Amino acid sequence: MTQTLNIPNASDPEKAGVSRRDFLRVALKTIGGVVALEVSGVALSYFKPQTGQGGFGGVITAGTVDDFPPGSVTPITQGRFYLSRLADGGFLAIYQRCTHLGCTVPWDQAKQKFVCPCHSAEYNETGEVLSPPAPRSLDLFAVTIQDNQVLVDTSQPLSRDHFNSTQVVYA
Ligand code: FES
Repeated sequence: MTQTLNIPNASDPEKAGVSRRDFLRVALKTIGGVVALEVSGVALSYFKPQTGQGGFGGVITAGTVDDFPPGSVTPITQGRFYLSRLADGGFLAIYQRCTHLGCTVPWDQAKQKFVCPCHSAEYNETGEVLSPPAPRSLDLFAVTIQDNQVLVDTSQPLSRDHFNSTQVVYA
């Protein structure tokens, strides 16, 4: 006597006893799960403090002292700060986050000041407030000069009300 086995055809969900609707529901849930994992992974990596060298949250080598002429403001994008070299040769690493509501503040080379695009607060090259609504100077990061290299520690923004000369670092 011969017995026939009924092996479901995996390529045809209808024959496998799975309705097209069930199949699509499972497929969509699987895709949704993968997308959710990807999104949560990206979100976690964004909020995770970075403590390594070379990136925001760590110590960044901005360049050599001579890379920054006196009287210049240079964006260091990977560190989210501007390296301001004052006319007397001193350095400040100025955090790009506005002290009003946290917008990123660009340096306006033509106007020679920082102008916040959100509510128009303005700061000078030391990060000192020129016009409100910013309540205080832009935060700083600690600068160290070693072997003619300008190192900036971005692990902790240094809050301040006003600029004063003790904040300036010299080679
Ligand atoms: S966030 Fe910069 S002025 Fe409001």
